Amino acid sequence: MVPELEKASVRMKSPERVRRVIAALRRDGADKLQVISDFDMTLSRFGFNGRRCPTSHNILDNSRLISEEGRKKLKDLLHYYYPIEIDPNRTVEEKRPLMIEWWTRAHNLLLQQKILKSDIAEIVRESEVMLRDRATMFFDKLYHHHIPLFIFSAGLGDILEEVLRQAKVLHSNITVVSNYMDFDDKGVLRQFKEPLIHTYNKNNTVLENMEHCQRLSGRPNILLLGDSLGDLSMADGVANVENVLTIGFLNDRVDERRGKYLDAYDIVLEKDETLDVVIGILCYVLRET
Ligand code: TMP
Ligand code: MG
Repeated sequence: MVPELEKASVRMKSPERVRRVIAALRRDGADKLQVISDFDMTLSRFGFNGRRCPTSHNILDNSRLISEEGRKKLKDLLHYYYPIEIDPNRTVEEKRPLMIEWWTRAHNLLLQQKILKSDIAEIVRESEVMLRDRATMFFDKLYHHHIPLFIFSAGLGDILEEVLRQAKVLHSNITVVSNYMDFDDKGVLRQFKEPLIHTYNKNNTVLENMEHCQRLSGRPNILLLGDSLGDLSMADGVANVENVLTIGFLNDRVDERRGKYLDAYDIVLEKDETLDVVIGILCYVLRET
């Protein structure tokens, strides 16, 4: 069906279930499909040439807009909280308050920095952010088939939209829900808009009354892409779901986390910096092969 599923990076607990869901997605076609995806380390690359690529927060944190002292404090937060975020031995309940603490502390530091809206395009251009290989094909294919792409991100919405804009893939089929900045009339960052989205509240609690949920209710088939176990709740707000195929990028601490990822995601992609498998599935579902 999908030759890309033979790649060495692919792991599946139940290939039979994967086959069944992909067959259902193909049977129902493009009109019934929507894609829900995380951004950081899912659509963007985790690493390149042995170096880590930045998250949307890191693009800002590492930029010239942040003072040396601010940068150090943000880095300290990252080194303290990121291992907690991905710790396979802690429950989500334990992690949730700590993630709120991380996001709140990081956003408060950013608020002290006099960040200008007009600087965002340039710091994105100067950053080392990269989308996964074949991202352009992924975005263009969804756009050309009128398949809605809902990007649900605990990163920074203003930054990730600019990454997509510069890659020329911010098409009109995309809806983003993320942490957006609020600028004053001089264009200076003054606060972050509510609600705060962190890794472990990506669900309907932050999506209430969002018009996109209604717009998408006629599309009962979902392809869900994520890299965190918190990403699996991103489709919870969608009504009348029929078939969901989940694909998880396992980027870091692979051996320790493999078991949990295999239990949670239909398809696990280990250290795979490409969108090959996603595109392979889309081609099959869209009858392009
Ligand atoms: P997401 O990929 O689940 O949307 O989450 C965004 C990522 O951003 C998450 O993996 C943690 C990361 N992050 C930073 O890199 N720096 C920060 O200051 C914060 C708050 C989060
Ligand atoms: Mg992510």
